[in-house]
Amino acid sequence: MITPGRIRHELAPFRVPTAEEAAASRWFSPVAIGPVRARTRTWVPAMVPWRAAEDGFVTDRVVDWYARFAAGLPGTIVLEATGIRDVPSGPLLRIGGDRFTPGLRRVVDAVREASAGRTRTFIQLIDFLSIRRRPTADAFLGRFLRPTDRHRQGLAAATGDARFLAADDAAVREALVRLPLAAARELLDRRELEALDFGARERVGDLHLPHVRDLPRTLPPLFAAAARRAREAGFDGVELHYAHAYTMASFLSRTNDRDDGYGGSRAARLRLPREVYAAVREATGRDFAVGCRFLADEAVPGGSDVEDAKVYAAAFAEDGMDFLSLSKGGRFDDAKQPAVGEAAYPYTGPSGYECMPTVVSDARGPWLRNAGLAAEVRTAVRGRGFTTPVVLAGGVASFDHAEDVLARGAADVVASARQSLADPDWFLKLERGRGADVRRCTFTNYCEALDQRHVEVTCKLWDRDFDRAAPPPLADDGRRRLVAPPWSV
Ligand SMILES: Cc1cc2nc3c(=O)[nH]c(=O)nc-3n(C[C@H](O)[C@H](O)[C@H](O)COP(=O)(O)O)c2cc1C
Ligand code: SF4
Repeated sequence: MITPGRIRHELAPFRVPTAEEAAASRWFSPVAIGPVRARTRTWVPAMVPWRAAEDGFVTDRVVDWYARFAAGLPGTIVLEATGIRDVPSGPLLRIGGDRFTPGLRRVVDAVREASAGRTRTFIQLIDFLSIRRRPTADAFLGRFLRPTDRHRQGLAAATGDARFLAADDAAVREALVRLPLAAARELLDRRELEALDFGARERVGDLHLPHVRDLPRTLPPLFAAAARRAREAGFDGVELHYAHAYTMASFLSRTNDRDDGYGGSRAARLRLPREVYAAVREATGRDFAVGCRFLADEAVPGGSDVEDAKVYAAAFAEDGMDFLSLSKGGRFDDAKQPAVGEAAYPYTGPSGYECMPTVVSDARGPWLRNAGLAAEVRTAVRGRGFTTPVVLAGGVASFDHAEDVLARGAADVVASARQSLADPDWFLKLERGRGADVRRCTFTNYCEALDQRHVEVTCKLWDRDFDRAAPPPLADDGRRRLVAPPWSV
């Protein structure tokens, strides 16, 4: 059923250019990304496919995944969000120690081989704060809640029993569990209610937590060491993940209320992202591409908008970043309540929709929703005299979409995530005048639902497209092929 006010849109028109038109097009023309020359302005942005090992190492599946994208000859591939810390992070790809470098080198080599050296390889570096699964009410009240005098006073008032004023933690918890839930909720503050209803989530403003307070000290060397490893592994560059729901985006956010010089004003919110960049540049040198992905608009009430993004972009360009990759939304602030036992997922609310829009949309539809924002940001950067390339993503579904964005001067590079997932060969097909063979993404986000469950991301269009007698490598459920079917020319 479609929510009232939403419309199911048709797929965008898909005009097939001739090989000659593609060859003369903007999208298939070269671009300099700092010291790196990309053969075309096509770009596969970061997408987590959940193929790393439980301990964060590269597996054969990771290698095969990126080699498959490279076979379609995009100008640049950005490897998925990769954790910079040396801490267990489940099957998230990691780069937080030198032992991860050889595996990552295998990915770089596989991309080079599959593309005959024609595709550039970047890796996205991420840091994130802790988020817990939504607990049961009994587990929260009886185990996780930290009793304070506020709870003791509330209990004493609610029960008329003054002995609670001096009760120990165990007695307070026990009493809270015994109270009717509605009455217990009355005794919780806003953050405690959020922890009960959504799962506890750390914020960059939690200065009472030493590891959060120390982020300005700990993050620059962590990002720098990760970038150095990326360079050693042979990547052409790194993309600092300053977007979506993660630590660095939260520093940039207007909701960042730190009062230690790293929050509040725009300049203070920019301070850590700039310091991280400076440390990364110092560790990698000028002949290595360093850029970031950040939000052209957080798309949440009270969050940063395009006016902030213009200032951020100009500052990053001034500092010497080699590219500015824009995204939109994807914040926890408006995420849907998860089921008990699940963690909140930042792509379930309105800002999540803006990040990965589907065909069930408002009247504007899902196509190129970020082009206007990107144009504003790029104009601001150019207006300050910088030529830093701007990368646009979001609802790019055709050659004409990309050409339109480039012709309008809204971006210098045009990224495509889901269409490239549906058909990693689509760039090559367009270049060869074979666009009629493109397997077109339906923009209904089956892949995103898999991402949410942290299971291997695949595309519904190629899942079952194989010979049962001689199946290709399959997902753990034994039903879905792990890479897109080959294009038989
Ligand atoms: C399965 C999946 C995983 C993603 N993982 C990441 C990620 O690791 N880092 C990131 O910045 N964006 C991530 N994204 C967002 C995409 O890079 C892109 O911005 C978004 O899908 C919109 O582009 P599109 O309309 O071309 O799909 C992911 C998207 C999908 C569908
Ligand atoms: S699963 Fe759906 S949205 Fe995702 S790439 Fe395939 S067709 Fe597109």
